[in-house]
Amino acid sequence: MATEVIKVSVNSKEFEVPKGARLIDVCRDKGFDIPSFCYYSDLALQASCRMCLVRIEKMPKLQTSCTIICTDGMVVTTQSEEIEKAQRSMLEFLLANHPLDCPVCDRGGECELQEMTFDWGGLEERFTEKKNYQPERYLSPMVANDPQRCILCKRCTRVCDEWMGEDAIEAGGRGANTVIGTYGGWLDCSQCGNCIEVCPTGTLLDATYRHQARPWELAQTISTCGYCSDGCEMSLGSRAGELMRIVARDRYVNGHNGEFLCIKGRFGHPFVNHEARLRTPLIRYKKGGKLIPATWDEAIRHAAEKLKAVTDANGPDALAVVGSPRITNEANYALYKFATEVAGTNNYAATDAFSLKPFFDNLGAALATHRDIRYAKTILLIGGEPEELQPLTGKQIRQAVSNGAAKLLIVNSTPIRLVEHAAQFIHIRPGTENAVVWALGNITNGTAAAQKLGIDANELAALRQTITATEGDLVIMFGGELDAAAQVVVAQLTSIFRADNRRVLLHPLPLFNNSVGAHDMGLMNGAMSAAELLDAAGNSVRAMYVAGSFLPAHLKGREEALAKLDFLVVQELFETDTTAFADVVLPAASFAEVDGTFTNNDGLVQRVRQSIPPVHQAKPDWMITAALAAELGKDFGFQMSASTVFREIGERIPAYAGLRYPVLKDESNPVQARYKIVEPRDLSPELDELRKAVEALPDTGNKLSVTPKVGHELFKISTLTDKVSQFHLLAAGNPRPDTVRVSPLYQITVDAKLEREVAVSGD
Ligand code: SF4
Ligand code: SF4
Ligand code: SF4
Ligand code: FES
Repeated sequence: MATEVIKVSVNSKEFEVPKGARLIDVCRDKGFDIPSFCYYSDLALQASCRMCLVRIEKMPKLQTSCTIICTDGMVVTTQSEEIEKAQRSMLEFLLANHPLDCPVCDRGGECELQEMTFDWGGLEERFTEKKNYQPERYLSPMVANDPQRCILCKRCTRVCDEWMGEDAIEAGGRGANTVIGTYGGWLDCSQCGNCIEVCPTGTLLDATYRHQARPWELAQTISTCGYCSDGCEMSLGSRAGELMRIVARDRYVNGHNGEFLCIKGRFGHPFVNHEARLRTPLIRYKKGGKLIPATWDEAIRHAAEKLKAVTDANGPDALAVVGSPRITNEANYALYKFATEVAGTNNYAATDAFSLKPFFDNLGAALATHRDIRYAKTILLIGGEPEELQPLTGKQIRQAVSNGAAKLLIVNSTPIRLVEHAAQFIHIRPGTENAVVWALGNITNGTAAAQKLGIDANELAALRQTITATEGDLVIMFGGELDAAAQVVVAQLTSIFRADNRRVLLHPLPLFNNSVGAHDMGLMNGAMSAAELLDAAGNSVRAMYVAGSFLPAHLKGREEALAKLDFLVVQELFETDTTAFADVVLPAASFAEVDGTFTNNDGLVQRVRQSIPPVHQAKPDWMITAALAAELGKDFGFQMSASTVFREIGERIPAYAGLRYPVLKDESNPVQARYKIVEPRDLSPELDELRKAVEALPDTGNKLSVTPKVGHELFKISTLTDKVSQFHLLAAGNPRPDTVRVSPLYQITVDAKLEREVAVSGD
């Protein structure tokens, strides 16, 4: 349906705007500057700062443009002596109690209050009263706070509530003594730092970067997060080869995540310049011996000779090539090319927690973007725990429900936190997720499935009814619990639920930043999975070439598998349980040191840009693979350029056809890979397979009744988060320090050797 258009005049110029548009947005969109503090697009209105004043014809007083919806024929003035005088007075009030400490404030140079004062403020401060002193403090290991700088715009409390669903901070006190604080004096939250990001002043601050650098000293590089599959866009701030901080601040980045980042994306970067990074290539000349530093030439030559000896003696399939869902598309493509064109082996894989191949091979509809999720009418989540494992997806779901009145349908064995937003929660027995998919794909078997799920068959009927009553977008999401046959059925549910007034979109929830890219680059097409390759180690598989490391879940119960290999080459950032068995270790560059692309769970192909030169002697993964290939007699023709690798990807991988780096340069206009949409097909084989698996499930069993605590996955220590001291405090339960005046890092010591459960998202 075409959007109705109305006419509005702003500063004597006429514009056609969509009916229902907000005046502040219209003015800004048409190029008229409107100052504001409390207005924040897509958050509930606060309307307290009164900076956004405009004059509207026929209205008696100046109006706050953030609260006005445009009407046909509205005549608006945004600039006049009267308006400017009112705005200057508002700023004067805001500054009455504000300390003049911009020279020592971390926000100095990128503070909205500072900028506004330059543009709209008075030159003189007429208030001579004593300022209401409030001491600086820490709210958590991640959030520092200077309460006196607060202008009470309440962006922080609103993002905490609406984006995070946590409501962990609130305004307390009255009048001039109002301060933003926590419940109980210490933040027990997911530590996302979004309150820091949206704070227009230096009131809430990144405690891990405090007083480390001034914003203008930092080179800003727009890149993509290297943790989860949501693929948040971010700005990497570096100085002299050191990555100092990460923000999603709107002035630098304009990505699909807006100013949202989670704790890992924002604070999880100190591994990049960490002293434990591998410094040189290493060779272990004999099994059980030590790894000895070597030159790149020596290490590549040694690795090539030994790999060749293994394949010459045992055939090409004796060599397994293993990529990673953490490294770039360029790196994984180079590995795929190595496996298929140099080694000629059928044994290649990626170290992901699960493969999305069955899903993509049967894709019945487009992937939902995060924007589609935000504006969906109904969201069906089967398994998964996005608020801990894909936090941007979690935020979009919450906003779709809270700000967009979407219906959220959750099928999960755990009462995850999102359940409080759900219109329907189907609480199933652990391990029965496939039965729900079977029931959805097979209309007649609700009762049999319900028995195994431990629910009433009416719950499935109600689920189906809500879905079929949806007018608008239905987004179907699923976690890693589904097996291959269930993935196929989910990918094809679109043909069952699509209708003229309903679009069905799909959103997988893989764990890693480039799980989708590792699939797209072909690494899931090999003869065996990563775990199966480990099982074959020492038997049919005699040597391995691994980028990154195996997940703890892969190695569990297979601790000795890698020791059985004749030869193991690993390229990594750090020494790990995988490099412990390597005969050659090659230092790889991190996401902050390379150019490339990641593909997120929307299918968005997003740029990774080099922020700092590779540390020590590290090299980009694709470059290492190309060097090994060259030593084995194959010139990849990459010409030392990631863009050349990507050009080849664009030429050879149909979903990436025509893509080049210049096409991906605008973060505000992300590019989705063009996956082949498969025509509806007969699902009988998969439904039959599911039926058999479901019938084998027990008829009884307990359910999990406890909602897991915030951070139970986010705070787990992995190889990367291990390098952030503050994460150790969080993993130890975020103990409250004796005093909030001093960083808890200097007050609480956590024994790093304590045994802790590993993160699902791995090593
Ligand atoms: S860090 Fe995140 S969850 Fe914690 S108070 Fe700030 S916005 Fe809320
Ligand atoms: S702490 Fe920052 S975001 Fe929160 S109310 Fe104060 S100025 Fe606004
Ligand atoms: S939600 Fe995922 S992609 Fe975004 S910052 Fe967090 S870990 Fe990174
Ligand atoms: S922006 Fe309109 S009142 Fe604050």
